[in-house]
Formats: sequence, C-alpha cells, structure tokens
Amino acid sequence: MKISFESFKNIKDIKTSNLVIFFSEEKVKEFAKGIETSNCKNGECPIKQSIKEFDFKGKYLEISLVGSKLGNFNKLILIGLGKEKDLDKTKAEAIGFKAFKYLNSNKLKEANFLFNIMLEKNGDIKFDTDLELYSGMIFGFSMAQYNFNKYFTGEKLKAKENKIEEITFITNDIKQLKTAYNENEIIKENVFFCRDLINEPANIIYPASCAETCKEMEKFGVEVEILKEKDLKKLGMGSMLAVGQGSDQESHLVVLKWYGNPKSKEAPLAFIGKGVTFDSGGLSLKPSNAMDTMKCDMSGSAVVAGLIRLLAMRKAKVNAIGILSLVENVPSGKSMKVGDIVKSMSGQTIEIMNTDAEGRMILADAIYYAVSKFNPQIVIDLATLTGAICVALGDKYAGLFTNNDDLSNELINAGSKVGEELWRMPLSEIGGFYDRQIDSDFADVRNTGRTKDAGAITAAQFLQRFTNNHSKWAHLDIAATAYLEQEGFLTQKYGSGYGVRLLNQLIKDNYEK
Ligand code: BES
Ligand code: ZN
Ligand code: ZN
Repeated sequence: MKISFESFKNIKDIKTSNLVIFFSEEKVKEFAKGIETSNCKNGECPIKQSIKEFDFKGKYLEISLVGSKLGNFNKLILIGLGKEKDLDKTKAEAIGFKAFKYLNSNKLKEANFLFNIMLEKNGDIKFDTDLELYSGMIFGFSMAQYNFNKYFTGEKLKAKENKIEEITFITNDIKQLKTAYNENEIIKENVFFCRDLINEPANIIYPASCAETCKEMEKFGVEVEILKEKDLKKLGMGSMLAVGQGSDQESHLVVLKWYGNPKSKEAPLAFIGKGVTFDSGGLSLKPSNAMDTMKCDMSGSAVVAGLIRLLAMRKAKVNAIGILSLVENVPSGKSMKVGDIVKSMSGQTIEIMNTDAEGRMILADAIYYAVSKFNPQIVIDLATLTGAICVALGDKYAGLFTNNDDLSNELINAGSKVGEELWRMPLSEIGGFYDRQIDSDFADVRNTGRTKDAGAITAAQFLQRFTNNHSKWAHLDIAATAYLEQEGFLTQKYGSGYGVRLLNQLIKDNYEK
C-alpha cells in the first residue's frame, strides 16, 4: 500500500475518486448550516447534502458512503469521530482501524483523507487537526493491514488480499504527521512480527527455528545468545529441561540484549517470555478441543522478541534483556511423568503433579537465570499460563500479578494508553494463603495448587518462588489476550501481539533516558 502526505489548500485541488472525511459531531453541525459553497455544482453541495441525506450526525464510528458523482469525487465517505471532548488517541485508533476495514471490504483501491476539517466559503480547507488524534487514526488504519495469508493459494489467496492500494493523508503539517507516522510504522512492524510468530504453526516455529529467527535481530544491533540443552544442563536448569525432554525438538533459551544506553550505570530491564512452541499437555494430555490452539503457547516469547526488536529498531535509550524459554511439550517414552521430582536452577525441588502445568516450570528457570545473572531493575514475565485467567477476565484484560505497587501502576497506565488493558490480581507473600497451596508433600514446591481453585493465582505464586525475592517483579498472564477467538482492539482474531505496545509504552514513560 502506497502512503503519501499532501498539503492541499483548497478542496477543489483534491483529485481523488474517493474522499474520506472524518467529522466530529460539532463539525457536522457547522457544515449542515451551509458553509460549503465553492465545492457545489448546479446548486448541489456534496458534503452538506450527504450529511442531510444520510442523516449523518458524526457519531463515534458512524459511517456513510455517498456513491454519487457530486463534486470532484465518485464517492464521499463520511466517518464520525463523536464529540470532540470525548475523543482520545485510543478512540482515534479504533476509528482508523474501522475505516480500513470499511474501505477494504468495499474494494476501494484509492482514497484521500481529511481529518476533522472545516471549509471557508471559497473552499479553502481550515485544518483544526490535533496531530495526536490524526496520527492515532492513521496508526489504527495501518494496524488493520495485518493478515496471515501465506498458506493460502490461488483464488483463496486473491480473495484474502487487501484491496486498498493508495492512500493520501491531507494535512497542513506534512513534516510532523510524517514523523509520527514513521515512528508508528516501526511499532506496527514489530507487532506484526510478533503476530506472525504466534500464528505460524508448530511445524514451522519450534525452539530451534524460533531461535534462528531471533538471530536475525543482530542486524538491528541486538546481541543474540542461544543456549542449547548442554548449556542448560550446565546451568542446572532441571525444571526447564524436564518439560522438553519428551520432545524430539531440542529446548533452547534465547537471550536478547539491547544496550541502547551503554553509559548508564543502572541495571537493565528484564523481560521473560513463555515459549512453549506446542503444548499438548504432555502425559497429562489435553483433550483435542483444548489442544487445537496450542501453537499459541509461545506468545510470551513472541512478545519479548517483538519488544526487543522494536527497542532496537527505534534505538531506544534503554538497556533491556529479553529471554525466550523455548520448549515443546509432547508425550513420549522420555517425557516427564506425574510425580517426578526435578531440581531447578534455584536449587529448589519441584514435584510435577500435572505435566500440563509446564509453563511455570520453564519460567522458573528462566526467571531465576534473569535475576541471578543480570540483577535487573525490573523483571517482567509474560505467559499464556492458565486457562483460569480466561475464565476470570475473558480477553478484555490480561492478569497482572506483582509484588510492587509502583510497577503495578506503571504497567496499568501504560496498558490503558495503548488499549492493552491489565487487571491486577491478588498475590500472597511467600508463606501466605495462596502460596501455601503449592507446598508439596515430597519436594519444596508442587507445580499445581492442591485444588482447582484460584488456578491463575497459584500459578503466579509458583513463579514468585523463583524470583529470588526480587522486589520489582510482575507476571502478566496473557492466556486470553494473546490469541483471540474474535477481532479485538486494533487486531484481527488469532495472534494479537498483546504486550508489545504495552511494554514499549511502559519503557517510554518510565525507563528511557
Ligand atoms: N498453555 C496452557 C494455558 C492456556 C490455556 C493457554 C488456554 C492459552 C489458552 C497451560 O500450560 C496449561 O495447560 N495450564 C493448565 C494448568 C493446570 C494443569 C494446573 C490449565 O490452565 O488448565
Ligand atoms: Zn500446559
Ligand atoms: Zn502451556
């Protein structure tokens, strides 16, 4: 899709077959009064007339398409922004997303966009455009381009392809809008990178191939270290290794290092992602209907990869470590068994009560590795960890578990800004009510709670035991938000990329020089 920015002075200068105008309710009222004169032909004024004919009010997400030959345009598309006081960046993004879907499904190849403008009597365009809102709308528009078509062929592929070819955004400040656009494009590219990793099936993305994909980040200045099973053994990662031991795929731990602020004396930030490239449940085998989406069980790792790639591409002045713990959880004669006891890198022993509670086992070693090796300022892990979080929150919020109120606020605020919402869940101290549920009769800790109750919380409690008492740790349970069954905010269904923008915003707002 070709994108350009133009600065037309008068509405008559615009040469396009499809003109898209975004209007607030206030601007619609002004137009309806009859401000438009120069744009009229034979007494017909296209904008005013279509407002009237379609009873267009400019309500939030309202769309009218006028398919007449009025004015210079074949089609005039009016899109409502709602009341100006209610409009914010997130809403503008949602409008852009919807605009793309609308134009695309109407097979419009080309269009020019005007954002909340007025006209002088002579047709001069009066721009009353808030740059943040306009670029937010453009970002939403751009985010809607995502599709995962690569495995379609022939006619089916053709039908799935985007139809829009060329868009021109009209503005009186090309430079600023272009700058914002270019910054947002980097974000978009990495959310799409993350989505692709999630949507790829498990025969394509498995631990070794995922590590190889990460290796390509070196071209952006990321240091990529890949630890294989013999390295993990040396480190004593008996918990992570147990999960992968039934698989023919070798487990990998990928360490991504982005040192964008090399002079800083502060410790780096650490982000750790669950990377189960396929979760069959292992010997505690999942039923088929619960297994069919389990290629998505490496979403946490995909988010971490997308985040570090994004930080590097935008040259963020921050030092950040990304850790991907990559394994495949399948049954075989070599698989871990229920009742097995393994020793984690932290020295704590784990009794395996359910081989399907594998995410926490790989994270236990990855989190401990991160805190003991890098002594990070903050530690954040992301994981499609429990079905229980889906039951509790649906896909509106991801579950947030943290031992630090400041970090909690920072994360929740960053999430709200980008429409990736978090809901804080309870977490006990070690020895507290929820923590006691994972005490084992045979080992230091068991990998499931004693009952099915509070499944997302007991999973978080398990992770906390491997943080080595780090005082700024957060766990994001993204089981519901990472892979959607229906379209969400700025995202098609399936791999959403939830978390990339959230963590990027967290860093921008709190940890970047
Ligand atoms: N990968 C699953 C959790 C999951 C469920 C992710 C649905 C995405 C969508 C995880 O490894 C798992 O199987 N958890 C078990 C834990 C239980 C055995 C204690 C669960 O939630 O049922
Ligand atoms: Zn599982
Ligand atoms: Zn899992």
